[in-house]
Amino acid sequence: MSEVPEHLLERSRLARERMTGVAGDAPAAASTAAVAAAPAAAAAPAAAATPVPITIAEPDPLSPMAEAAIARSVIPFWVVPVLVFLPIWGLLYVGTLERAAQEDPVLSAGSEVYASCQGCHGANGQGGAGQVLNGGSVVQTFPSFEAQMWWIANGSPAPGTPFGNPDREGGQRESYAYNGAAMPAQALDPVALIEVTYYERIEHGEQDPGELAWVVEWVESGEVPDSFEIPAVEADAVDYLHTFTSAYNEADGGGEQAAE
Ligand code: HEC
Repeated sequence: MSEVPEHLLERSRLARERMTGVAGDAPAAASTAAVAAAPAAAAAPAAAATPVPITIAEPDPLSPMAEAAIARSVIPFWVVPVLVFLPIWGLLYVGTLERAAQEDPVLSAGSEVYASCQGCHGANGQGGAGQVLNGGSVVQTFPSFEAQMWWIANGSPAPGTPFGNPDREGGQRESYAYNGAAMPAQALDPVALIEVTYYERIEHGEQDPGELAWVVEWVESGEVPDSFEIPAVEADAVDYLHTFTSAYNEADGGGEQAAE
């Protein structure tokens, strides 16, 4: 049998003392070997012989600081509603972003019609074989929505004919002045003509869609006629188109071009 190290013996002696309440000096010193061989057997009778009343000490009263720390809720009360509504708000927010892009059916339909224009005018209205439209340019030429419809439907009038806003930056437009080229008349049904005009004004002309809310109303009213008979002369065409738009387009309903 191997020797039991002294520190273990000491530990078991202290444990015995704790259980029995009797200082175990004598027995421990007297028979180290015996105790080492059967420590449990030696301890049990001793414990039985002298039962020690167990007293549970009253806990010390807590300091006011400790009490305050326990009473204080770790999560502030307002965090709960914030955490509950955060995902809901997130969904709503993403929803509004998608709606801006998708929920203007007139704009998305207009971008499809524009596919037949972009070969000449460029995907972003930057110009090419056809006139530059972007950077606000097309709305400068045509402050009037109706005048722009006239242009697209009829194409370039006779060479040298002034058209659009007389006060346009850089002077009034004249047909054939851009590259000496004419724009061919675009055969579009009335709704497609309205849609592409709307698209160009917002995407290239940088007009605020809020100013064109009436166009969406007009298209959605179902009152756009099946065909237009748009006159060849700009002023006549604008008057003609106003007979359809005046009920919707209050700002531009008088038949005049609003100067920039
Ligand atoms: C074959 C090439 C071609 C196609 C296709 C074409 N355009 Fe043009 N467009 C031109 C040319 C060239 C001009 C300039 C004509 C001129 O000044 O007489 C022009 C001018 C314009 C202008 C006047 C811009 C300004 O500020 O002077 C508008 C608006 C316009 N086009 C819209 C359209 C739309 C909308 C479509 C498609 C439905 C379209 N164009 C298709 C060649 C084209």
